[in-house]
Amino acid sequence: MLILGIETSCDETAAAVVRDGREILSNVVVSQIDIFAEYGGVIPEVAARSHLEVMMPVVKKALKDASCTWDEIDAIAVTYAPGLLGSLLIGTLTARTLAVVHNKPLYAVHHLKSHIYANWLGNTDKLPAFPLLALVISGGHTQILSMPAHNQFEIIGTTRDDAVGECFDKVAKILGLPYPGGPSIAKVAASGNPSKYRLPHPKIPELDFSFSGLKTAVLRAVQKEAGVPISYPSHKLKELLTPQQVADFAASFQKTAVDILAEKMKLALEKHPETKSVVIAGGVSANQELRNTFSDAFFPEPKFSGDNGAMVAAACYYEIQSGVKPTDPYKLNIYPRISIEN
Ligand code: KG4
Ligand code: ZN
Repeated sequence: MLILGIETSCDETAAAVVRDGREILSNVVVSQIDIFAEYGGVIPEVAARSHLEVMMPVVKKALKDASCTWDEIDAIAVTYAPGLLGSLLIGTLTARTLAVVHNKPLYAVHHLKSHIYANWLGNTDKLPAFPLLALVISGGHTQILSMPAHNQFEIIGTTRDDAVGECFDKVAKILGLPYPGGPSIAKVAASGNPSKYRLPHPKIPELDFSFSGLKTAVLRAVQKEAGVPISYPSHKLKELLTPQQVADFAASFQKTAVDILAEKMKLALEKHPETKSVVIAGGVSANQELRNTFSDAFFPEPKFSGDNGAMVAAACYYEIQSGVKPTDPYKLNIYPRISIEN
């Protein structure tokens, strides 16, 4: 079964053709990172406009790279939630139109489900086994999910404030490192001392997370190191740090963030001893320090950690296997904030 997956929930315009949920025939991703690096973050209206400009060329390239015609496509899958409203609209309107014009069944896929199913992509011999625990860590989400079987999800832990990726992005800003913060922190952290600055672990009970306090703790530690009061403009702090101090802060922050995730997953495994696999997903799962720490877990190939169309097609394939029916292309709505449990 060949599925065309379309993803536009944030700042990547992506389309891919995947056979039977695993074999990647094409994977086209146009990132808006260069545009938003200039602003230090995503501007929703600009993101939507950029999606509109490249959406159809991206779909056409995905079909061309896969050497397949519309006749050979069995279904279209598209991200309908969660994400930026304008961005989701461009992807879903495109998918709805293509489904009607080419008379294909249309499937609406939740973005976090797609991130999880990135772990089934590719030619790996070993696949995650159920029941499993999934840690989804992205720019917008930090959640631990229990999955008893394909396409069944229960949220057992979630962040009470910022997502961990968002925290990487905000700490990078304080340190004067470019957007997106995750990769730039990881890069400079390589030459930093992770034990240089002691940062607190939040005392959040059970399996929930909090990352806003960690961001503030980094801010306070930088102010202290620079010898300025807390009223000092935070965008000017970077001018007071040496490259080595920046590297040490990046390494100390990265280690703390990874340790917090590891502690919660350890607790989750104690509470769910029946777990057969741990699956890590979402943009932050590209982080190498995290990969070293969770050495027994499943990770997507790094290029499938971030947003892409192949994971949407993979998630759709397993939805179809689980008996999910297509959606009405004339009625499909978008939901910027809906939970995976809906
Ligand atoms: O999944 P994703 O591409 O988009 C969302 O669905 O949010 O995740 C983007 C997030 C950003 O916050 C980015 O800084 C973070 O993933 N990220 C990383 C790394 N690469 C991307 N965080 C830590 N280490 C990385 N190597
Ligand atoms: Zn994502």
